[in-house]
Amino acid sequence: MTDRYAVIGNPISHSKSPLIHRMFAVQTGQDISYEAIEAPLDGFRDTLVRLRQEGYKGCNVTVPFKFEAFNAATDLTDRALAAEAVNTLSFNDGLTGGDNTDGAGLVRDIRHNLDMALENKRVLLVGAGGAASGVVLPLLEAGAQLFIVNRTPAKACELAARFASSAVQGGGYEAIGDAQFDVVINATSAGLSGSAIPLPETLFAAGALAYDMMYGRDTPFMAFARDNGAALVADGLGMLVEQAAEAFNIWRGVRPDTAELIATLRN
Ligand code: ATR
Repeated sequence: MTDRYAVIGNPISHSKSPLIHRMFAVQTGQDISYEAIEAPLDGFRDTLVRLRQEGYKGCNVTVPFKFEAFNAATDLTDRALAAEAVNTLSFNDGLTGGDNTDGAGLVRDIRHNLDMALENKRVLLVGAGGAASGVVLPLLEAGAQLFIVNRTPAKACELAARFASSAVQGGGYEAIGDAQFDVVINATSAGLSGSAIPLPETLFAAGALAYDMMYGRDTPFMAFARDNGAALVADGLGMLVEQAAEAFNIWRGVRPDTAELIATLRN
């Protein structure tokens, strides 16, 4: 019998998750279906109840429901607790497992696909909203020395303080000064409106990676990085595929190969 999965969001028509998971299924010989479901903005819980009744095995959750998914889960992983957001739900008997694979996807893309070590590296995380909070714990676990900056500095300080670790601090853009970083990650939504972020031009250390968690467009942050000496500039497509592979592995116990799919999607 085919096991059913879905991604829930609003809007959802743009989602690449069905394509990615169907390709993983073909590659690994897993008998699953995967579709995109648009839940009404006030109807996330009802949608979950329906999926459960219809025998779905799990779902991915995207904007704007990751916090509601966090609240709906009865069994949370450490990284979901740290993120206060869930992107992967598993329906097991009476329990709802909640995990967050975004940070693991980012870390794997940086280390494995972009071949950039994170251990003891100076990492600047720009932004302190939902996208940023999802990746802090996996970056710390990878050994990064993390500085979080945000337009609203208090949010960066609060996010850093949640981890009670000397390896993570927060502040406003002005706190960057003339410090240099090996990896700079844009986790703001500024690229959606085409806004530039006021970062210092001296930001990038020799050999630095600039990483935008957004994909599908060249953002002002990526252009800024190219103009100011970043050795490598990446968008978030690899992270998208890697977070999906991590979710697939949670559900099916098989890790798909991602390299070929990333290349296919890029073309
Ligand atoms: P997401 O889930 O995409 O992270 P969010 O939780 O609303 O969305 O967070 C958006 C992030 O982008 C925040 O860090 C926000 O900064 P503020 O906390 O100061 O609002 C940041 N952001 C959005 N537009 C921005 C802009 N034009 N310049 C700089 N930062 C911006």
